[in-house]
Amino acid sequence: MKRFWKINIFTGFLALFSGLLTTNANPGIRLRFTDKGLQLVDTVAIQLLNEKVKTATIPDISGDADTPVGHISYSLSSVHFNSLSIPSSTFKTNPGVGLTLQISNAQVSLSGNWHYRKDHWPHISDSGSFDLDASGLALSVSAKLGADSTGHPTIATSSCSSSVGDVNIHFHGGASWLYNLFDSYVAGKIKDTLQDKLCQEVSEVINNNAEKELSTFPVKKQIDRYALINYSLVSSPVFNESYLDVFIKGEFQSATDPKEAPFSPVSLPTDSESAKMAYVWLTDYVINTAGLVYQDAGFLNETVTPSMLPPNFSYPLNTSTFKLIIPKLYLMYPNRPMKLVAHSTLRPTVTTSSSGIALTMTGRVETYAQLENGSFVYTFTMGLNISANVKVAVRQSNVTGHVDSVKVKVSLIKSAIGDISINMKLLQFALDAFADQIIAKQLNKIGDVGFPLPVVDGVQLVNAEVTPGKGFNLIATDVKYSPGKSDATDNRPRGRNKIVIV
Ligand SMILES: *[C@@H]1O[C@H](CO)[C@@H](O)[C@H](O)[C@H]1NC(C)=O
Ligand SMILES: *[C@@H]1O[C@H](CO)[C@@H](O)[C@H](O)[C@H]1NC(C)=O
Ligand SMILES: *[C@@H]1O[C@H](CO)[C@@H](O)[C@H](O)[C@H]1NC(C)=O
Ligand SMILES: *[C@@H]1O[C@H](CO)[C@@H](O)[C@H](O)[C@H]1NC(C)=O
Ligand SMILES: *[C@@H]1O[C@H](CO)[C@@H](O)[C@H](O)[C@H]1NC(C)=O
Ligand SMILES: *[C@@H]1O[C@H](CO)[C@@H](O)[C@H](O)[C@H]1NC(C)=O
Ligand SMILES: *[C@@H]1O[C@H](CO)[C@@H](O)[C@H](O)[C@H]1NC(C)=O
Ligand SMILES: *[C@@H]1O[C@H](CO)[C@@H](O)[C@H](O)[C@H]1NC(C)=O
Repeated sequence: MKRFWKINIFTGFLALFSGLLTTNANPGIRLRFTDKGLQLVDTVAIQLLNEKVKTATIPDISGDADTPVGHISYSLSSVHFNSLSIPSSTFKTNPGVGLTLQISNAQVSLSGNWHYRKDHWPHISDSGSFDLDASGLALSVSAKLGADSTGHPTIATSSCSSSVGDVNIHFHGGASWLYNLFDSYVAGKIKDTLQDKLCQEVSEVINNNAEKELSTFPVKKQIDRYALINYSLVSSPVFNESYLDVFIKGEFQSATDPKEAPFSPVSLPTDSESAKMAYVWLTDYVINTAGLVYQDAGFLNETVTPSMLPPNFSYPLNTSTFKLIIPKLYLMYPNRPMKLVAHSTLRPTVTTSSSGIALTMTGRVETYAQLENGSFVYTFTMGLNISANVKVAVRQSNVTGHVDSVKVKVSLIKSAIGDISINMKLLQFALDAFADQIIAKQLNKIGDVGFPLPVVDGVQLVNAEVTPGKGFNLIATDVKYSPGKSDATDNRPRGRNKIVIV
């Protein structure tokens, strides 16, 4: 009983913390798990429960009773589960509460030892073993999902009830009056013990396994040496009849100097989509914070030298390429290799609307010509505005982005070689090739890898469909769960079996 007490205290604390975490901040990401998606968790939870009862110990049952041989004291000891069969269960949202797991019509078989001793002289006694089958077991357990002050999701049992239908026992050894004793004294105690035990085991699966699993939820996910994503929950999850919504910060932050971005996510429209297993509303904020972090990290500054271009690229980085575009450059530095120092001057931004996702980047390119003695001389600076359409997709659990058509607009910003006339048409040709073969390739190298959505290990998104909305992309997806390499007999406290809530 001590254990239940502990659980209640724990639940109380969680409720306190969940109450605390109510910010008005819009989430960068809204995650929805529908009841269809929660069926996956059901399967995993039942597997875990099956494994867990195998090693569960049941407290001894003892008492005293009047029998044909006189008043006796009896005990049932070393009672253990042989099997638990759960033919049907449901795991659903419980509006305003959290989640409810219901099991019905389950069967259990137990074995153990019996012993009795007559209270008065002659103190006759006997002992043997027994097998017991209980059927018609039902259980309903509710769990509260919340978020703690560090933005981790939490789960804890809030209530549990169970009932046991018929109980049959077979005593090995002993006299026939033992069966009467069982019916009139012991059966009820067994039922009570079983009911408590089932609730206790299920509560432990939730309060230990699931809670531990959720505590590993990646509230901070390192992406590379520049960036991490803040996946903290910004408020407690919300439940209704058919789904639960989780509100996630979804902010890219500097890996070395994390700070809040100076802009916020749009507010997402309420939406009652629930046909798929999971939905992810990914606001532009997420990608725009990524743009900010990589911009500040200097990741978007790049020096381009001739050897970095593909060898067969039709516009080699050489003043000869500019012979017709900027005649003066060629006149001053004929047939000289060049160097471009490119940097992004504004953070890249994406803007999603129902017609698609537009990416814009703004930067400058300083051009240099290399002299015979190897040193570089600055020649002029171009301003570039790059725009592209992005296609968002999902691979495994990563969101990826792919640009198809990249457009570059150019202007002359500064010249160190005097007034220069530029053949804009020819320059645009060269830049279009550059955009297509160099910039797009670079962007896609990053975009095709993408970044991971906040799911625990072993979860894969399948059949994902992406629909652009106003300031966000909606990913509607089914979920596949592969418990990894763990074997099914894992019942160490820190099991590999995952309870997947988010
Ligand atoms: C992540 O976001 C949460 C919620 O806004 C915030 O409390 C927390 O400080 C952030 N973490 C970092 C490292 O900035
Ligand atoms: C669930 O809640 C949302 C928002 O609170 C609401 O718009 C939607 O209609 C609800 N769906 C159902 C099935 O109750
Ligand atoms: C990127 O280049 C710009 C312009 O040269 C410079 O101001 C900025 O400091 C650079 N960023 C980093 C992080 O090196
Ligand atoms: C350059 O060569 C590579 C492979 O050798 C090829 O994939 C690419 O299409 C070529 N590019 C041009 C512009 O010819
Ligand atoms: C630059 O172009 C000239 C003329 O085409 C050529 O002689 C020279 O080797 C080129 N330099 C480089 C580095 O490609
Ligand atoms: C290369 O030549 C230029 C102009 O003749 C000169 O200004 C520069 O100092 C020289 N650089 C080196 C490394 O000798
Ligand atoms: C590039 O964009 C900036 C800011 O949006 C604008 O001021 C500038 O005129 C644009 N330049 C070109 C060449 O389109
Ligand atoms: C998902 O994104 C992360 C971070 O960019 C990357 O390390 C990982 O390889 C990606 N996974 C896949 C399957 O592409």
